[in-house]
Amino acid sequence: MYIDPKWRVLTVGDGDLSFSASLLKNHQPQQLTATIYDSMACLQEKYGDDYYQQLQQDNCQVITDFDVTDKKTWGKLVKKSFDLVIFQFPLLPAFSSEKAFKTYCETYSVNTLNRALLRKYLLNCFQYFLDDNGVKLAFITSKNVKPYLQWNIEKSLIRNTDINYIGRFYFDISKFPDYKVRNVNRDKHVKSTQGTTYIYSLESLENCKTIFDDKSDDYITYNRQSRVPEHKTCQACRTGAFATERDKLMHLATKKHQQMFAYEEQWSDFLQQESANKHIT
Ligand SMILES: C[S@@+](CC[C@H](N)C(=O)[O-])C[C@H]1O[C@@H](n2cnc3c(N)ncnc32)[C@H](O)[C@@H]1O
Repeated sequence: MYIDPKWRVLTVGDGDLSFSASLLKNHQPQQLTATIYDSMACLQEKYGDDYYQQLQQDNCQVITDFDVTDKKTWGKLVKKSFDLVIFQFPLLPAFSSEKAFKTYCETYSVNTLNRALLRKYLLNCFQYFLDDNGVKLAFITSKNVKPYLQWNIEKSLIRNTDINYIGRFYFDISKFPDYKVRNVNRDKHVKSTQGTTYIYSLESLENCKTIFDDKSDDYITYNRQSRVPEHKTCQACRTGAFATERDKLMHLATKKHQQMFAYEEQWSDFLQQESANKHIT
């Protein structure tokens, strides 16, 4: 992950703050504000507060009880003052009970709710967190396995917005010594699975390339226009090109495709509802 020492960085949804502590120590950004969703008491109970104390000693601002979807929880955060916002391995918080799970998932699946969290994260990054005069970058790092791959992170989150998906790179955890990827609700270190960092900006791909080219040793796969005609691909599963129509039909008949298609349908419903609500309020 390329982090320019000139950048002012905001981290969102850090688990035990080990990512933020490692980032500060090993990448030394000009300024870092670290946030966690949990309360101080919860942090102490789940993981202990070693990294919190470490960050405090380094005069780094740490905000607890920070819900990226809810302005009221942002406390002393200085708006529009960052160059880069990072959300590592996002995931909805655990439901407190079966009843809470049923209430939340009455209308939408967990897949849609996770996408909604990330869409709100990106919208808030560009509306409230990122400095209009800075480099304006938002990163999401996520695992390369199901169910995360089924969120269609690259394309679905920014539909009908002016945010651009710029590209992605392999998340190399060895560049973040002592970082422990955490589960949502347990005092356990998640088994290391490979991660990908997705890059978003309001700027065009060409402008963003100047930020990374020659500076980052991560190989970035830029989001270039595909030369494959859309009808030879499956947009829901992001796969193709199919050599023949028969190959495509065989793909469309698979369970994997049908599940992805259902997720995409529900996501479209969600976005329609979001847009309708915007017109009412
Ligand atoms: C799988 S954990 C990863 C934790 C940490 N980022 C890491 O890499 O170890 C997912 C994290 O997302 C956070 N999260 C979920 N919903 C959030 C929200 N609305 N605002 C901020 N953080 C949130 C959770 O609190 C949890 O810490």
